[in-house]
This record gives sequence, structure tokens and C-alpha cells, in this order.
Amino acid sequence: MSNHRLLSVVSTFMMLIIINTVSFTQPAVGYNVKRLGAQPDGKTDSTKAFMAAWARACGSNQSATVYVPKGRFMVGGLQFSGPCKNGAITVRIDGTLVAPANYFVLGKAQYWLGFQHVQGVKIVGGTMDAQGAGLWACKASSLKICPDGVTSLAISNSNDVKVYGLTSLNSQMFHIVVNGCNNVRVVGVNVVAPGNSPNTDGIHVQLSTGVTILNTKISTGDDCVSIGPGATDLWIENVRCGPGHGISIGSLGKDLKEEGVKNVTVKRVRFKNADNGLRIKSWGRPSNGFVDNVLFQNVVMSNVKNPILIDQNYCPVHNNCPHQVSGVKISNVKYEDIHGTSATKVAVKLDCSKKYPCDGITMQNVNLSFKNQIPASAHCINAGGKTSGFIKPTGCF
Ligand SMILES: *[C@@H]1O[C@H](CO)[C@@H](O)[C@H](O)[C@H]1NC(C)=O
Ligand SMILES: *[C@@H]1O[C@H](CO)[C@@H](O)[C@H](O)[C@H]1NC(C)=O
Ligand SMILES: *[C@@H]1O[C@H](CO)[C@@H](O)[C@H](O)[C@H]1NC(C)=O
Repeated sequence: MSNHRLLSVVSTFMMLIIINTVSFTQPAVGYNVKRLGAQPDGKTDSTKAFMAAWARACGSNQSATVYVPKGRFMVGGLQFSGPCKNGAITVRIDGTLVAPANYFVLGKAQYWLGFQHVQGVKIVGGTMDAQGAGLWACKASSLKICPDGVTSLAISNSNDVKVYGLTSLNSQMFHIVVNGCNNVRVVGVNVVAPGNSPNTDGIHVQLSTGVTILNTKISTGDDCVSIGPGATDLWIENVRCGPGHGISIGSLGKDLKEEGVKNVTVKRVRFKNADNGLRIKSWGRPSNGFVDNVLFQNVVMSNVKNPILIDQNYCPVHNNCPHQVSGVKISNVKYEDIHGTSATKVAVKLDCSKKYPCDGITMQNVNLSFKNQIPASAHCINAGGKTSGFIKPTGCF
């Protein structure tokens, strides 16, 4: 072996050692909220300790972990904001975060735990107990002094975020919101609130690209998943929904100028005792919003009030929209392998915009039945498309 060759082998070898040493001497640093003063007693305010742990993890120039050990930690509003000095922060939760019982404490904040302007954050495990019942009772009473309530977990203006195995209980408003993000994965999450709790949407996605929701179970009082304007390249797979108001694209078209929803896949989903199954909903008023390229595939309905629904005449309390038509154009929506039972006679209802009729709707192997001997029916207005395979109920195209 020539000297030159030897030198090159040695230097390659040295480089490997250096690379290994670098990665070996820079393990993730960990910040345990308990060591920073958090009390696992469910009542001492531990907000400061959580914020201190985040500040250190975010300020670290190497990957870092915020660790929440077992126990119940009462925390107020937590703003976990970036940009951070490293792109790999794990928030590992073995315990439970408990919101203050007094709902005025979170008051006018928009969220309880919020991540914003972060990249490469992973939230693993844990339970968030927002104790929403007090606020729901306030809203149900005639008192006019209730705050709106907050989202339990909000991820905004962030990239490459993962939420694994989180349980969200009894949110005041939405459980989880993804807004203004790229590449977010929500996997193995469990959302629980009573079927009559107001506005407790499970997971809301808007103005975001490349969001994936997998292997998730949602029982709540509003939409299991709600999909707002500007949701694109969204993938929802293996989700159980019920009670709840279904997987809903919308409400869209509230604003005159609005981002569209495109490329949404919803597959292997089960709805049980839900108000809706697969729903697309837009306000009956002018808008440039749209829905394009949606696939609903392999869905089982059990006792669902509106298994397949497009409602473009949404106008709650007839406010600001009576006698107007929706400007939202809905095209290329596929329903494939949808079967099970409807809790009402009308199992399929496509009520599309008179001005911008739905087009490119396809149904393949749809088999929905109503109770006993009474057949289910389909009602379609301003909807164009075609069917293939077995279709029950028939009558749309
Ligand atoms: C990381 O931060 C430490 C102290 O804060 C500093 O000593 C070290 O040089 C930094 N390393 C890099 C790679 O910036
Ligand atoms: C649609 O979105 C999926 C992710 O949900 C992505 O893999 C696919 O490339 C997108 N398709 C188009 C045509 O953009
Ligand atoms: C449609 O569903 C009914 C009720 O579950 C079932 O008896 C029937 O075999 C199904 N038909 C097809 C073609 O799958």
C-alpha cells in the first residue's frame, strides 16, 4: 500500500471516529419539569416550570427533551414558541396535564398548550384533561358571561411536527388544531368528550399541507375531524368516530375570499352512533372557495344519522345568508366501499349549489340500509356524477 493510499485510509478512519464522537458526545439533553419545580399533585400551578423546561429545550443547540413524569400537573396557558436553536425537540409526557378548574384562568387565550413557529417537534404520550364540563354548563345556562373557551392543543405555523399517543379529555372548545403547518402527523391519538359537549371538535385542520391522521379514536360533541379552508394533501386513515358529527370538510365559504380544500383521502374509517359520517358543508353565500379531489374509501357506518352528506345550504339561525347560494364549487369526490346502517331514512343526501353544481361525483359499491324493511333513500340536487358496482340506495345519477 502506498503512503498516499495509507494516508487516505487513515484519514477516512479518523473522520469516522470524529463523526461518531460528535454524535456520541451530543445526546439529547433532557429537562424534567419536576426538577424545575412542577408539582404532580393536580393543584399546584406548574405553568412556570413547564415554560422553563420549554425555554431550555428550545434554546438548546442540540436535540432536547421536555420530560413530564407520571402524576397530575395543573398548568395554565403554555406557549411553546419557536423558532428554536435545534430542530429536534421531544415533549415526552408520562403524566397528565390538568387545566385550571376555573375556566376564566385560560379565559381569552386561544389555546391551552400551543406550539408555534417550531420545526421538528415530537409530542409523545400523555393525557391532557381540560376539565371542560364547567364551561359547557356555563354555556348551556342563560348566563352570558362565559368565555369562548380554548383549544387544548394548537399547532400553528410549524413544520414537521408529530403527535403520538396523546389522550385529550373534555376540551373546552376544540381538542386539537393544526393551522398553517406543513407535514404534521397525528398518530394513535385518543379524543374523549361527551356527545353533547358544545364545539368540542376532535381534530381541526386548516391552511395546512401534508397532514396525516392515523389510528385514532374520537368520541366527542362536534366533528370528529373538521377540515377548514386551505387544507391540502390531507390523509386520514384508520379512524373511529362516534359519538360525534362525523368527518366534515367545512364549514367552507363563510368568507368571500377563501383558500380551497384539495386532495383529501379518508380511508378505513368507522362511524358509530354519529350524527354524520362523510360530510361536506358550505355556507349558502358567495365565496371563491372550493373542494377538489376527495376520496372516501372503505368506510363502515353503524347507526349514523347522515352517512353521506353534502350540504351547501348551511345557514345557521338564518343569519347573513337566507336566499343566497353557495359559491363553493365541489368537484371530483369519490365514495368507494361505503356500507352499513343509517339511523334515518335518507342515507345519501347531496344538496349542492344551484350556481356551482357538484360535478365528478363517483360512487362505487355503496350499500347503506335503514332499519328493518324500510329501504334507505337518496336525495340529490344539483349533483352530477356516475356510479359503478353495487349501489344502495340508488337514485342520485
Ligand atoms: C452549544 O452550546 C454550548 C453552551 O451553551 C457551547 O459551549 C457549545 O459550543 C455549543 N455548541 C455548538 C455546536 O454550537
Ligand atoms: C395527495 O396527498 C397525498 C398525501 O395525503 C400525497 O402523497 C399525494 O402526492 C398528493 N397528490 C397530489 C396529486 O398532489
Ligand atoms: C348490502 O348490505 C346488506 C345488509 O347488510 C347485505 O345483506 C347485502 O348482502 C349487501 N349487499 C351487497 C351486494 O354487498
